Amino acid sequence: MRIACVGAGPAGLYFAISMKLRDAAHDIEVFERNAPGVTFGWGVVFSDLTVDNITANDPESARTITEEFAHWDDIDVHIRGECITSGGHGFIGIGRKRLLEILQGRARALGVTLHFEAECDPADPKWRDYDLVIASDGANSRFRDANPAAFGVDVDVRRNKFVWLGTSKVFDAFTFAFEETEHGWIWAHAYRFAPDCSTFIVECSEETWLSFGFDRMSQDESIAACETLFAEYLDGHRLQSNASHLVGSAAWLNFKRIKCERWNAGNVILLGDAAHTAHFSIGSGTKLALEDAIKLAEVLNRDGLSLEAAMDEYVAERNLEVLKLQNSARNSTEWFETLDRYLHFEPLQFAYSLLTRSQRISHENLRLRDREWLEGVERWFWKRATDGRSNTTAPPMFAPLKLREMTIENRITVSPMAMYSAVDGLPNDFHLVHLGERALGGAGLVFTEMTCVSPEGRISPGCTGLWNAEQATAWTRIVDFVHAQSKAKICLQLGHSGGKGSTKLGWEGNDVPLDAGNWPVMAASDVAWTPANQAPRTMTRADMDEVRDQFVAATRMAIDCGFDMVELHAAHGYLLSSFITPLQNRRSDEYGGSLENRLRYPLEVFAAMRAAWPGDRPMSVRISATDWAGEDGVTPDEAVAIGEAFAREGADLIDVSAGQTWAEQQPVYGRMFQTPFSDKIRNEGRLATMAVGNIYEPDHANSILAAGRADLVALARPHLIDPMWTLRAAAQLDYRGVHVPPQYLNGMSQLARNLQREAEAAAALRV
Ligand SMILES: Cc1cc2nc3c(=O)[nH]c(=O)nc-3n(C[C@H](O)[C@H](O)[C@H](O)COP(=O)(O)OP(=O)(O)OC[C@H]3O[C@@H](n4cnc5c(N)ncnc54)[C@H](O)[C@@H]3O)c2cc1C
Ligand SMILES: Cc1cc2nc3c(=O)[nH]c(=O)nc-3n(C[C@H](O)[C@H](O)[C@H](O)COP(=O)(O)O)c2cc1C
Repeated sequence: MRIACVGAGPAGLYFAISMKLRDAAHDIEVFERNAPGVTFGWGVVFSDLTVDNITANDPESARTITEEFAHWDDIDVHIRGECITSGGHGFIGIGRKRLLEILQGRARALGVTLHFEAECDPADPKWRDYDLVIASDGANSRFRDANPAAFGVDVDVRRNKFVWLGTSKVFDAFTFAFEETEHGWIWAHAYRFAPDCSTFIVECSEETWLSFGFDRMSQDESIAACETLFAEYLDGHRLQSNASHLVGSAAWLNFKRIKCERWNAGNVILLGDAAHTAHFSIGSGTKLALEDAIKLAEVLNRDGLSLEAAMDEYVAERNLEVLKLQNSARNSTEWFETLDRYLHFEPLQFAYSLLTRSQRISHENLRLRDREWLEGVERWFWKRATDGRSNTTAPPMFAPLKLREMTIENRITVSPMAMYSAVDGLPNDFHLVHLGERALGGAGLVFTEMTCVSPEGRISPGCTGLWNAEQATAWTRIVDFVHAQSKAKICLQLGHSGGKGSTKLGWEGNDVPLDAGNWPVMAASDVAWTPANQAPRTMTRADMDEVRDQFVAATRMAIDCGFDMVELHAAHGYLLSSFITPLQNRRSDEYGGSLENRLRYPLEVFAAMRAAWPGDRPMSVRISATDWAGEDGVTPDEAVAIGEAFAREGADLIDVSAGQTWAEQQPVYGRMFQTPFSDKIRNEGRLATMAVGNIYEPDHANSILAAGRADLVALARPHLIDPMWTLRAAAQLDYRGVHVPPQYLNGMSQLARNLQREAEAAAALRV
């Protein structure tokens, strides 16, 4: 094949090498606009896996690269005069310039033709003469941007400013240095990549950057200002830039996250940063470029594969990899963009939050890297959880939490789950066994399902209720069982279905109206949930009084039942949520329009319940922190204001769910997908929160809690199939302090022994 590679970065050079290795007959030319040896940037970091991949692909270049690697283990986080050091991170790095020199040499040796100082114009007709044109021309690819529709380009220009500098100061650890200045916070990411040279990236928010006046400074002035700011870390060494003499480079940049729906059009294939970028803070751009190159060369040289089939396979495999990395990179980018949120943390928790920011590194990963450091974090967490009384070193999920006078044994809760198994709102033996079993399973707090305050407030005919004495007696039996047989606390979730009521049992169809016997429904406005659902009646003030009083009556009954806590369900599109979301609330009175108005009635209900509920017992509220509808619905920023408003009325905990507030929602699912909302509400609003949503491993829970993303962690579906989730987690983590019902002690020790044996066998295999 006759191939042109536009751009002699890692992607273009390594692709040329990988093609030649597979078939020396390929005729490959690489065109680069800059002179050889002239490049932007300083060091790049690699992972062990990338080294394995390049070694398998081309042992010769890999040998030279790995011989020159700089290795380091520690991460130092400097903040507020403290340095928090954790070890075992195992980085390897190399200078970008040196990497490119090695790749250029190898490409030449394999017969690739290299043209330097050769600016390529996508409009030049000569590109038609090549079988393939590899657009490895970087993040600002001209070849991609000449035809953006063909590639489905999506560019997201991120908020922060950064400049990629170098220094002769040798940093022995990967160093993060956060400095508070009169203009705001500014920080450096620094690491050594050669015996005498380190990368030094300076980053700050746009506001801080403008306030410093960096926009008006020359490059030299910017560098001088950074030298002064970070003098304490530079020990007299200078900062340097290598961007000034490059075509198409600027000193300060905004990172561009690039995604493309398609990676080829005509004879052009996008490779590396031209197709996708990953934020520099997770250090994976070069890895992606090299691994793209290997895979593309492999499919293009496979016998009998058409170009189309080769591209299909290439895209299928690489797209998944890229998506995973871009997800982690987005988390990491956002962490730095929302730094203000975490500045109230003590330095140790701040460092933990920084290390786990991309969600690729978890609590147990950190234990493997540096057990002593992690145990320090665990001790710190327990001390704070117990007002300094405990010196325990144990997973955060087992630490207690005090809300008003209620102390929860541990941080795991059974999330509210409708069971659709009641008749006339009356909980029965199913509910006793279901909730009782989950309390025996070790969770610190068990929520009832949404229990309705009136017959017409039910979602389905199978929902539980609390509007009469018979129901109160049935609930008392359940609460008494939980209190007598377990250490769990039990919280009653109270709600009203609003316009989403009068529907079938969950397993007969979600939100589908009954075949017969529908009852009239009401909501903030007469917006039907779907065309198949009834249009609700718009609530009058008299309706509002009546429903508020029903909530208060149920709350009073809950006191007699002995519930430890009550939660108001104001999420998921039910009655109170229909007031909060603008997608359902079309009112023009004082209950519609602004957020203040939309919150007025839900807050009135909450305040009335709070007044009826004992002052020593806590209350929570469940909210949908986003409508998954962009700016048209509730946004995460509004969710902070919503949390704060309920807290002012006496909510002790914000139970942070999301969505289900309109039928056309566009949620973004994934592991722990709603936790970022809890993080935001907790750390911007400084409120206690509970995170929920696809949290299913003990490691998830511990990472969330230690990083201060939530105070409690709720699991719903995992508890459906495993009521003993918490006890199993205790056995897995070898934590002995959890309360095990005496009847189950034998099973617990057997499980712990088996897990221990399995872990030892797995470790032996690894050795
Ligand atoms: C501050 C910062 C820090 C980073 N840190 C790391 C890190 O630690 N680890 C890591 O793996 N990655 C890191 N990266 C990302 C990494 O640099 C890129 O992901 C990687 O270089 C992508 O390789 P590429 O070959 O696709 O593109 P590039 O390296 O950008 O190469 C593109 C080449 O094409 C040339 N070119 C562009 N247009 C034309 C044209 N029209 N004609 C001729 N030539 C052209 C350019 O001059 C350039 O040489 C960092 C990036 C930044 C900005
Ligand atoms: C069967 C079922 C019933 C649910 N019923 C309720 C409910 O009554 N009240 C509520 O607030 N959330 C309810 N939810 C939502 C869960 O509490 C939880 O927020 C959601 O399932 C995400 O958590 P998970 O990924 O751990 O399952 C229900 C979820 C399921 C699976």
